[in-house]
Amino acid sequence: MRIYKVGGAVRDRLLGKPVTDIDWVVVGATTEEMLAKGFRPVGADFPVFLHPKSGEEYALARTERKSGRGYGGFTFHASPEVTLEEDLIRRDLTINAMAEDDQQNLTDPYHGQRDLKARLLRHVSPAFAEDPLRVLRVARFAARYAALDFSIAPETLELMRQLSESGELEALTPERSWKEISRALMQDQPQVFVEVLRACGALKVLMPEVDALFGVPQPPVHHPEIDTGTHTLSVLQQAALHKQPLTVRWACLLHDLGKGLTPEDEWPRHIAHEFKGLNLIKAVNERFKVPRDCQELALLVGEYHTHGHRALELKPSTLLELLQSFDVYRRPQRFEEFIAACEMDARGRKGLEERSYPQADYLRGAATAARSVAVQPLLEKGFKGPELGEAIKRERLKALKLYKEAASA
Ligand code: CTP
Repeated sequence: MRIYKVGGAVRDRLLGKPVTDIDWVVVGATTEEMLAKGFRPVGADFPVFLHPKSGEEYALARTERKSGRGYGGFTFHASPEVTLEEDLIRRDLTINAMAEDDQQNLTDPYHGQRDLKARLLRHVSPAFAEDPLRVLRVARFAARYAALDFSIAPETLELMRQLSESGELEALTPERSWKEISRALMQDQPQVFVEVLRACGALKVLMPEVDALFGVPQPPVHHPEIDTGTHTLSVLQQAALHKQPLTVRWACLLHDLGKGLTPEDEWPRHIAHEFKGLNLIKAVNERFKVPRDCQELALLVGEYHTHGHRALELKPSTLLELLQSFDVYRRPQRFEEFIAACEMDARGRKGLEERSYPQADYLRGAATAARSVAVQPLLEKGFKGPELGEAIKRERLKALKLYKEAASA
């Protein structure tokens, strides 16, 4: 039995990047031998085991063949005769298809080292096409290594294009897609992920609502970059620069979907795009079974981002409605994330990246003012049930009027 480190651990060590988890491949062993050594099988019918102490993944060397659509459509063959080279050739990228023994001797039959030096993401063999998730993986790696100047080999991009056109992407499960999308959005340059998906035609399949934003103009006074797709990418980039959490990044990506629905004869204005976009945001959320906190924030940011920008001009009653919609009394964090998304939207515009955003503090102050209304005195006055609710609202409105007056004085 010979054991090698494979995949990301080898790649990231050669890149001088921190290695988080290590995958191992075992050549020349049987399932029975692994079990006898105390390894725990991961799934009932997959030759992958967990190390009894470290918990790291050890996979028997295997070959794979596609036998149907989607991820389920795989047959694999694991036996002690399968060589390391045979195992490596079924992998996605050359830089992920290197192995290392315990003396750090490298096995690199598909020239991963050469491609690391050339900063190229290149597929190992035509078997790349057997797992459509790899289209998203390559886009994610492009985003992750963008700062190192990696690019995608033209022949790999062509293969990604063919895969996107073939209808195979539709067979991906929401869970697998979301895992890639969410990881990609958390990179330092998440906009590269979207750009790559667009370049290979995958964006049109996965998120046609986002793809539709490219080529849609906006008024140059507010949007010197003009194009809505370009704007969306810049907003995402700002969110990453400002280290925003996944919820905010997801909301940034989807905030302007309604603009893709505006009839051309109304361009470059987008009346009521906030409201019109809600069904589209909902559809994308459901398509990828997006976690609830991301879903909620995306819908709220979609509906209210223009309110955020106009915060200083809003009437106290409109401010109150905004705060109620966010339930700022019980969900203060979600309102903070809304403010962050609005600020990223304001900065994700050509030449305006460094602008100040006084709306942020103004909104925070309004939330504090509304929250400062004490319920106890109203209870003591005998209010209860729906009347109590109305009385609290009246007091909050008073507090917001005073707040607005004080802020504009
Ligand atoms: N792999 C593959 N195709 C996939 C998923 C994984 O070929 N769809 C192979 C690659 O060789 C990859 C290895 O399995 O390097 C381990 O996969 P994974 O742990 O998902 O990714 P890493 O490459 O380790 O990258 P990351 O650091 O992003 O986890």
